Amino acid sequence: MPRSYSISSDAIAAETKRVDGDLSKFDVSRVIALDDLKLKERGPTDVHVRILAVSAEHNVDHAALADTMNIAEVRGGKIYPGNSAVGEVIGVGDGVKKFKVGDIVLTHCNGEPDEYGYPLRIWAYDQPESVGWYGEEAVVGEWQLIHAPLDCGLNLWEIAALPLRAPTAYHLWRRALGIYRVKVGRRQHARLNVLGFGGGVSECFLMIAAQEGHRAIFCSGSPERRAHLESLGIEGVDQKQFNRFATRDDVKAFSKHMKGLLGGVGAHIVCDMLRGPVFPAGLQVASRMGVNVSAGWQLDTAVNYNSANLSVRQITLDHVHFETVEGSAAATELYGQVFKPTVHKEIYAFGDLPRAMEEMHQSVQTGIPIVRVASDMPAAVQGLIP
Ligand SMILES: NC(=O)c1ccc[n+]([C@@H]2O[C@H](COP(=O)([O-])OP(=O)(O)OC[C@H]3O[C@@H](n4cnc5c(N)ncnc54)[C@H](OP(=O)(O)O)[C@@H]3O)[C@@H](O)[C@H]2O)c1
Repeated sequence: MPRSYSISSDAIAAETKRVDGDLSKFDVSRVIALDDLKLKERGPTDVHVRILAVSAEHNVDHAALADTMNIAEVRGGKIYPGNSAVGEVIGVGDGVKKFKVGDIVLTHCNGEPDEYGYPLRIWAYDQPESVGWYGEEAVVGEWQLIHAPLDCGLNLWEIAALPLRAPTAYHLWRRALGIYRVKVGRRQHARLNVLGFGGGVSECFLMIAAQEGHRAIFCSGSPERRAHLESLGIEGVDQKQFNRFATRDDVKAFSKHMKGLLGGVGAHIVCDMLRGPVFPAGLQVASRMGVNVSAGWQLDTAVNYNSANLSVRQITLDHVHFETVEGSAAATELYGQVFKPTVHKEIYAFGDLPRAMEEMHQSVQTGIPIVRVASDMPAAVQGLIP
């Protein structure tokens, strides 16, 4: 039986008890456990995949912490997480048209598209019965897979960093720019100031902005991540210089710094995937007509703002969940051309996935964390392993 990681409500309860309810002492690696998983039987439109590599994602952190909701409990006591993977097709149902045995594929995390293609729920999170891909094998619907662009110039770990983060960024960017352009046309203003706060999604967001000729600024605490972005023409601002906005004075100092950097204008577009103390900092430095977009709530789910102030400044807040299925495929066309992700210096072994998640939780990684699941890689990707 293939092995797969799971998160159980019992493990969450035990860890919560150990730390006496103090989430700052919570160790995510004690909650994510290796399990055996009986795969569902392959149907006519299903594809059997051997997982090669996965990226660690924050929704797993949220599931283990049960900080936004206790999704393991809601799903009956256990979930099998993981919704970003690169895999090799090892079997296809009779009705499968797009894939054949030996193909290398990516997943997207759309669990159930609505009438416009946006997800009602996320795979391996709140989509009922969905089983994730932090495991050795999976059986998935054909509609959940995209051909991996093996000739895009990225190595296998870089490709594995993108299946969830790139489509999110792709959609956030289209939305943010579209909203801004409703207010201010290209005839009036061509080059925008675009600010993103740390994390892989914001990095991808800024890569699109820079590629389209805008001024892109990355505010993160990691010198390695900033250096990588600077090599792509994206300016870095050290978030730790402003104590990650712990106090109002820190936000004021950040605002002064940004206004100086941006000639007093501020940021026309801000990507804030974190919320918490990052949100007021992002609002403070937004320009008139600015747009603040987010698809994440890593530090807090709630935000607070002065509606009158934002109205007077004509600022728009926009909330994104995830890309459509076709948008996820379109985002894949930009791998290597636009998306050149940072990857954490250690490629984790499959058995070290819980530690990868805990280190991501602690924000100590130098890039997107990748876990190598398969020890023997197919010939198709062997040349892509650095
Ligand atoms: N809706 C979606 O489709 C979707 C998709 C992907 C992610 N998300 C959500 O978006 C959020 C970010 O995910 P991601 O994948 O972009 O992040 P990530 O690549 O895992 O990176 C998280 C990084 O946030 C940075 N960060 C910046 N400011 C921070 C602060 N004030 N406190 C702590 N860390 C800070 C840290 O890097 P530094 O130390 O360099 O600052 C940390 O490494 C998560 O909540 C995730 O669940 C949503």
